[in-house]
Amino acid sequence: MSLSKSQQLEYISHLVGECKKCNLYKTATNPVPGAGNPDAEILFIGEAPGAHEDQQGLPFVGNSGKLLDKLLNTIRVPRSDVFICNILKHRPPENRDPQESEIKVCTPYLKAQLKIIKPKIVITLGRFSMNYFFPQEKISRIHGQIRNITWQDLPLTIIPVYHPSAGLRNGAMLESLKKDFITIGKYLTAKG
Ligand code: URA
Repeated sequence: MSLSKSQQLEYISHLVGECKKCNLYKTATNPVPGAGNPDAEILFIGEAPGAHEDQQGLPFVGNSGKLLDKLLNTIRVPRSDVFICNILKHRPPENRDPQESEIKVCTPYLKAQLKIIKPKIVITLGRFSMNYFFPQEKISRIHGQIRNITWQDLPLTIIPVYHPSAGLRNGAMLESLKKDFITIGKYLTAKG
C-alpha cells in the first residue's frame, strides 16, 4: 500500500522533529518543517524560521508572513493552495544567517518535500533558497526572472524574489518584491 502525499510529508515532519544533525535543535523551541497543500502547484521556500515561527512550529507566521500574505492576495492565490517551507527547519539563534554546514545537513528534508509535492513553480524568497538552485547567482541580478530548469528529473519553473524581511526593512526592496509578484501573477494568468 502506498502512502498519500500528506502521509509522506508527515513522515518528513516527524524526521525533522527528531533531527539532531546540527546544533539548531538545542536552541529552537519547535521544529518548523513547512506547511500547506500537499498537492500545491506553487511552493515557496524561505530561509529559516524566526521567533514567531519557532514558537508556533509554522512557517511565515510573523511580520514577514504577513507581508507574504499581502503579496499572495495581490496575485489572488489563497495561502491554502500553496506549500511554504524553508531551507533550515530549526531557528538559528538571534536569526543569524544559515551556516553552510547547516544547509548541507538540512536540505535533504527540503529535497524530499519537493519530490513528494512535485510543484510546478517554486518561488524562492531571499538569497539562500535562490542559491539552493543557482549556487553561482546573485539575487540582485536574477530576482523576478522566470527560469525553467530540470532539477532531480523534475521540471520546475523557479522564480526568485527578495525575502519579505528585506521588503520590510527597505522601501526599494519592497517595490521590487511587489513588481516581481506582478510578474508572477502575469505568469500564472498566461499559464492558465
Ligand atoms: N523568514 C523565513 O525565511 N522563514 C520563515 O518561516 C519566517 C521568516
